[in-house]
Amino acid sequence: MYTKILGTGSYVPQKVVTNADLEALVDTSDEWIQSRTGIKERRMSETENTSELAYQAALKAIDAAQIQPEDIDLLIVATVTGDKPFPGVSQILQRRLGCKPITAFDINAACSGFIYALNVADKMLRSGVYKKALIIGAEILTKITDYTDRNTCVLFGDAAGAMVIGESEKAMIKEVVTYAKGDLEGLLTMEGYPLKKDFKTPDNGRPFLQMQGTDVFKFATTVLPQVVQELLDKAQFNIEDLALIVAHQANKRIIDKASKTLKFPTDKMYMNIENYGNTSAASVPLAIDEAIRSHALKPGDTFITAAFGAGLTWGGALIEL
Ligand code: ACO
Repeated sequence: MYTKILGTGSYVPQKVVTNADLEALVDTSDEWIQSRTGIKERRMSETENTSELAYQAALKAIDAAQIQPEDIDLLIVATVTGDKPFPGVSQILQRRLGCKPITAFDINAACSGFIYALNVADKMLRSGVYKKALIIGAEILTKITDYTDRNTCVLFGDAAGAMVIGESEKAMIKEVVTYAKGDLEGLLTMEGYPLKKDFKTPDNGRPFLQMQGTDVFKFATTVLPQVVQELLDKAQFNIEDLALIVAHQANKRIIDKASKTLKFPTDKMYMNIENYGNTSAASVPLAIDEAIRSHALKPGDTFITAAFGAGLTWGGALIEL
């Protein structure tokens, strides 16, 4: 029993935040942001919460897959910015989409979250117990970004991407791998609720994400080519036969460096970071959906997708469309 992609969808909120908008908030410049990251603008959700972005992306994926919400028996949402600590976005979506009572849960693996969701769904479908999975990466990073910190606030944006996967006689989703190295957690983190030592309600300020950008950069430029090579070796597939590599859109320089290390043409490294910035778990499914809808990926093409993020986590997949 194998799996394949049945359909994809994505959604971004309307409001565009340009580099010029951020110049008004912190000591930065359009030139610095573009040359150091490749980002020109990003989206910001002011009125729609994470489950709404996920819902809109899910509708498009369900439509593309030509199935009904009742056909879905597994729903996984990768997010670190759910509407609330609980219920999860997946459970909110189960109701909004009108799915039957099904297995629905959220995954927290930050920017690698969608690859984790894909791995878990692929294995659950391969068990034969589940038949059709809706997997989603949805984030509103702007909720947890500190707009007084120029090191991070220029990087992040809001989006959702969705994919329906189903059973297949041929292995179309050929390899999926995921990893974590928790000893690197301090490089990218966000504080949670403090321990209650004395039964007093603590008065802590709102927590924001914090990142040691240069160290994360070094980590990313190491694991990205590594995981691509691992997938190629496992699947015994030649890199020249890949139609595209769809990497997590965190920084154009990370993608360019991976292309050099792998000796893989830069124009086959899918890039949409200039329009959306880093949208964490949404980045990979948003990019895959765009690539499919713009025919940069066509039926019969094989591509690799890969991501890295807080945890630190990383992973990738080799997929035939
Ligand atoms: N505008 C102007 N100057 C800036 C800005 C800014 N927005 N941000 C930082 N600088 C300054 C720094 O203060 C520093 O100044 P100094 O030399 O006077 O101290 C200088 O620019 C260089 O800073 P670096 O951090 O060394 O710049 P770097 O080239 O490393 O780029 C960046 C920073 C873009 C954050 C890069 O390190 C990066 O992309 N890292 C990876 C981030 C990532 O991939 N995250 C993925 C996971 S996200 C998730 O899981 C939620």
